[in-house]
Amino acid sequence: MKFTYYGHSCFGLTAGGKNLLFDPFITGNGLAKKIDVNKIPADYILISHGHGDHMGDAVSIAKRTNATVICIYEIALWFGAQGHKNYHPMNIGGARQFDFGKVKMTSAIHSSVLPDGTYAGNPAGFIIEADSKTIYYAGDTALTMDMKLVGDYFKVDCAIMPIGDNFTMGVDDAIIASDFVKCNKVIGVHYNTFPPIEIDLEKAKTQFKSKGKQLLLPPIGEQVEL
Ligand code: NI
Ligand code: MN
Repeated sequence: MKFTYYGHSCFGLTAGGKNLLFDPFITGNGLAKKIDVNKIPADYILISHGHGDHMGDAVSIAKRTNATVICIYEIALWFGAQGHKNYHPMNIGGARQFDFGKVKMTSAIHSSVLPDGTYAGNPAGFIIEADSKTIYYAGDTALTMDMKLVGDYFKVDCAIMPIGDNFTMGVDDAIIASDFVKCNKVIGVHYNTFPPIEIDLEKAKTQFKSKGKQLLLPPIGEQVEL
């Protein structure tokens, strides 16, 4: 399973021979200028919540690729209203087998609204089971006790978690979250894109290391084999 980082909380995962794209936000990200949004592959687009920094490029990529958009019910209906009918609505706690693997939608403590003000339901995270791996993407969230359920009932190989603080968990809480999900391999996202979420990356890595954990921060455009 290959992880490709596109900046902020946008990343690709290869799973079951398909390309999964999460939270597409490229053209609005000043740090991701070298990424060509028209070349990003997507068979499925998974969206954690309706904020613009998670779906600024979702409609255009969905229309270009005709990807199936997997998201909460309210956001799925909104895609339909934008003229993209290829979506699969889910809701918190629900799981579904797709041709690439299994997806479970998890809770996230955050807020959510679509860029045009449309109600977007609740924010979410995802557990992906594919190619004998289990990946947890927390989405934008606070540290929450619900993460213990993830650790109790899944054997997570890699956790993708926000670390930028201010709008989501910061490094300290992400370390506790990795205890809750019982996974010591974390890919950090949702940092440095905007001034309020700028953090000291070396310090963050050192903090994880001091707890016996690994914090991966691949540069934008780089791939990591999970
Ligand atoms: Ni958000
Ligand atoms: Mn966000």
